[in-house]
Amino acid sequence: MRFRASPELIAKAAGILQKGRLVAFPTETVYGLGADAFNARAVAKIFQAKKRPSFDPIIVHVADPHDVRLLWKRIPKTAQLLMKAFWPGPLTLVLLKTKKVPDIVTAGLDTVAVRMPNHPMALELIRKLGRPIAAPSANVFGRTSPTTAEAVRENLGKKVDLVLDGGPCAVGLESTVLKIENNKAILLRPGGISVEEIRKFTPVVIHKREGSVIYSPGQLPIHYAPKTPFRLMDKGYGEFLHDLKTAFDQSRKTHTVWPRIGLLSFNERPKSKYFKAVRTLSRKKNLNEAAANLFEAIRKLDKMKLDFIVAERVPRNGIGLAIMDRLQKASGGKKGVKY
Ligand code: TXA
Ligand code: MG
Repeated sequence: MRFRASPELIAKAAGILQKGRLVAFPTETVYGLGADAFNARAVAKIFQAKKRPSFDPIIVHVADPHDVRLLWKRIPKTAQLLMKAFWPGPLTLVLLKTKKVPDIVTAGLDTVAVRMPNHPMALELIRKLGRPIAAPSANVFGRTSPTTAEAVRENLGKKVDLVLDGGPCAVGLESTVLKIENNKAILLRPGGISVEEIRKFTPVVIHKREGSVIYSPGQLPIHYAPKTPFRLMDKGYGEFLHDLKTAFDQSRKTHTVWPRIGLLSFNERPKSKYFKAVRTLSRKKNLNEAAANLFEAIRKLDKMKLDFIVAERVPRNGIGLAIMDRLQKASGGKKGVKY
């Protein structure tokens, strides 16, 4: 099979990590840029390669739920329940850390985020290294996360010593991040596991930013941004198209140049002369399929020298909440379209 890594390749990758260097590897969510979690100097290289601000803590990946003992001081009931239900899988839990976790991993916080990824190559790599792997998404800070090996190379080039190619990521956007505090689950980032699913096991508090305090440091309002200006539709598709037609007719009358617009649509739309490029997330309006296609679709549109990209909204249920979160961040909060 194309996307199986040979034992030799896994051993080579683990050897690189052992030497304190970086390996990009696939997970079910997005590609990670990994370093030995217990090697502070190696983790420092992640911050350099990504140009990541030093206040943004990194998720630690384990290959066995038992290994959380090395990382967390205590493992409350709620955490045990959620690990049993969702690991391996796209759920990250934040809990008080042990002394063994270097401060650079947690950006000085007293908590550490941990998850067990659901991808054979990621698990084989962690097992071969014999230690947990600290890994943020393998993109330059602030840009969309890579969901293919090609996207990793485009982002990081020579800054990464080896990229393991595991094919396109099945989930396509990052894990859900939950902080467990006094046995209460607080949502810090919506992601691959929906809030509805988690609520079958425990109540979830949806966290809002409190003043200027950044509770989950990665949750800056502008993130996942392509280079091309990116806007989120502030109305339904029909109304949007109607307004676009009015603007287009006006531009013809006044002989002004019509911009090169890219459309990121949720489901399939009839061909239209208003758009230079269209990417559809899911023909069947399936939110999971849409999530899996999201970052590649944005990356492809970003290469087309468009004046701007406009994204259609998706329903906020299930993984739709995480898709909307990423679209909102990609737009930096900018809605609507000006011509
Ligand atoms: O799916 C994923 O989670 C991917 C793959 C590679 O596992 N990783 C990922 O990492 O998305 P990154 O670094 O791009 O995002 C980590 C998020 C950030 O929002 C960060 O602030 C938050 O997790 N985080 C990490 N440690 C934390 C902590 N101790 N307390 C609060 N938030 C934390
Ligand atoms: Mg990231």
